[in-house]
Formats: sequence, C-alpha cells, structure tokens
Amino acid sequence: MIPNNTILTDDFGRKHNYLRISLIEKCNLRCTYCMPAEGIALTPKKELMTADEVFAIAQTFVNNGVNKIRLTGGEPLLRKDFPEIIEKLSQLETEISITTNGILIDKHLEVLKQFKVKNINLSLDTLVATKFNTITLRNQFEKVIDNLHLLLNNDFKVKVNVVLIKGFNDNEIVDFINLTESLPISIRFIEFMPFAGNEWDRSKMISQKQILDQINTHFSEENLEKLEDEQHFTAREFKINNFLGSFGIISSITNPFCDGCNRIRLTANGKIKNCLFSNIETDILTPYRNGAPIETVISNAIKSKKKVRAGMTTLEDVDNPVLNQDNRSMIAIGG
Ligand code: GTP
Ligand code: 5AD
Ligand code: SF4
Repeated sequence: MIPNNTILTDDFGRKHNYLRISLIEKCNLRCTYCMPAEGIALTPKKELMTADEVFAIAQTFVNNGVNKIRLTGGEPLLRKDFPEIIEKLSQLETEISITTNGILIDKHLEVLKQFKVKNINLSLDTLVATKFNTITLRNQFEKVIDNLHLLLNNDFKVKVNVVLIKGFNDNEIVDFINLTESLPISIRFIEFMPFAGNEWDRSKMISQKQILDQINTHFSEENLEKLEDEQHFTAREFKINNFLGSFGIISSITNPFCDGCNRIRLTANGKIKNCLFSNIETDILTPYRNGAPIETVISNAIKSKKKVRAGMTTLEDVDNPVLNQDNRSMIAIGG
C-alpha cells in the first residue's frame, strides 16, 4: 500500500510506486537506436552511485511507497557488484526486476534465483543472427537465444522487447508472435523513440496502427484477443487465440500512456528523472553524500513532473529535434 499524502504523488494525482534505477552507463552491445555511434561521455566512477548508495536511496523511495524496482543500464548485469546490489535490495519490501540484453544471464542465474528476481525483460530486436550483428554491432545472437531458453527453463517470467525500425525488423512481427505459440513469453513491440544521437526520425518508426494492421492481416481479426492491460501499463496487451504467450505494443509516440504513469527514474550518477523524456534532472546523490534529507529532493522532482512526455504533448513536439534531442542518450537513461 502506498501511504497517503506521499511525497511520491505528483500534481496530477499520479502515485509513483515504480522506481527504475540505472546501474551503469556501459553496455556490451552497441544498438544503434540506443547508443550514439560516437559513444557517450562516461561519468567518472567517483560520481556514480556505489552499491551502498543505491541501497540507501532506494530504501528512502521504498519507505515512501515504492514497491517495484527495475534495474536497468546500459547493461545492468555488467556491473561487477551486481550480486551485492541485488543482495542489498532484496532486504527491501519491494519487487525487483531487471531489463537486460541477456548476454550475462547465465553468469548471474543463481544470484537472480537466490534473490527472487522473477521478472526479466530481455531486449531482442531480431530473430536473424546476421541482423542481430548489424543492429548491435556484436556477434552474440546465439548467446542471447540460449539465455532466453535458460530463463524459461528456470521459470522466470520473460518479456521480450522489440524496438521496431522500418526496413530493418518490421518484417519479423509475425515471426516474433509465432514464438508465443509454444513459449510462455510476452513479446512487446516498441515504437522507436527519439533520444540524443540515435538518428530517429518518424519515418523510421512503425506505429501501433501499422503493427496491428500487419497482425490482423496475417492472423485475421477473430483470432486476435485483447487482454486486460496491467494497471500502470506501458504495453497494451493482446494474444492470438490458443497461443501460450502474448504480445503487447508500447506506443509512446502515437498513443502515450502517461495518464497512468507511476514511474520515476534514478540514473547511475544519482540524478532523478521524473520522466523518460525529461531533460530536467534533480541531483539526489550530492545531497545524500552531504547528509541532507533527500525526501524534499524527491518531492520537488515529482512535483515538477509534466502531464505528458515531459511537455512534448503533440506529435509535432516529438518530431521537433530542439525538444527531442535535449535529453540524455537512451543508454544513459535505461529506458
Ligand atoms: P514492466 O515493468 O514489465 O511494465 O516493463 P517496462 O515496459 O516498464 O520496462 P522495460 O524496461 O522493459 O521497457 C520497455 C520499453 O518501454 C522501453 O522501450 C522503454 O523505454 C519503455 N518504457 C519504459 N518505461 C516507460 C515510461 O515510463 N514511459 C515511456 N514512454 N516508455 C517507457
Ligand atoms: N526507442 C524505444 N525503445 C528503446 N530502447 C532502447 N532505445 C530505445 C528507443 N530509442 C529499449 C530497449 C530496452 C529498453 C530498456 O528500452 O530495447 O529493452
Ligand atoms: Fe511517464 Fe513520461 Fe513515460 Fe509518460 S513519457 S509514461 S509521463 S515517464
């Protein structure tokens, strides 16, 4: 239960019980839609949160009503002290999940099981090995597929994130859905979003409507079942009749879901971002290190949250590079 009058409630009455913590700015892949070709300037190590700081700041959020934490990156499993962080966070009364590219899952499987991390979201944009190499600039397709099966064989609940890019993987929508015939996974098709340096333009994006049109054409409308969406959903959920798994569409661009937003973000260098698209960041690590009370810092960050996409209300706003490039690169936000 979230306490009343919580510091985590914004001016629109949205209660932020879901904290996304980015643990690291580095990744072992180079997905072009996420990391700029020239890389990013990395924060010096001493300005990054230590495991103890991640725990202490997360604890303050949990004490004020957060009951879901997702660890992101860069690639969260690359953090050398990942087992220590999970162990510490597992002492808090909160669900813990991760979003990962899957490469290091086998290495951390026992730790994930031991500390009851049940929900794993796995990024996988193509089912074709050569295309995987093209989009990630690394040769790790088999490893990711093996680790997806390892997770399923160990009863993890897996969602697979597919960022759709026109001409690259929009011809794989049906193939991804066919995976759900026998695998108990949820595939989430994601509208490509603009972030600093990711060469977004709207013509590369596949919209919710285009995705559904393709699905209806292939599977026919009567076989498509609309499922009930999660309470604070990003993905609108569907399934094909008699298939084991399901799929969803994350339409941040053409059909945002900000009304139900319950998310607050903490970056690896200790800044609160009150929205994925917000360029306003509130430093919480410095006050924490100075021994100042951080509840006020959290409250101020929440109170300045905008109603929709950090103020990019219309499609024209999202299209405007002056607005959409004035943010971090996705690799340093963690989604
Ligand atoms: P669940 O916790 O399982 O609901 O996962 P999630 O969808 O919140 O997280 P995940 O890290 O798997 O992200 C999947 C996609 O959703 C990515 O493209 C994220 O950038 C996007 N996403 C996650 N949270 C938000 C959000 O608050 N707003 C928007 N617009 N997109 C989000
Ligand atoms: N647009 C949409 N989703 C993105 N992700 C990374 N970059 C983008 C983008 N530009 C997704 C990844 C990962 C999740 C955290 O965010 O696929 O699964
Ligand atoms: Fe929340 Fe911002 Fe995402 Fe909308 S775009 S759901 S306000 S984080």
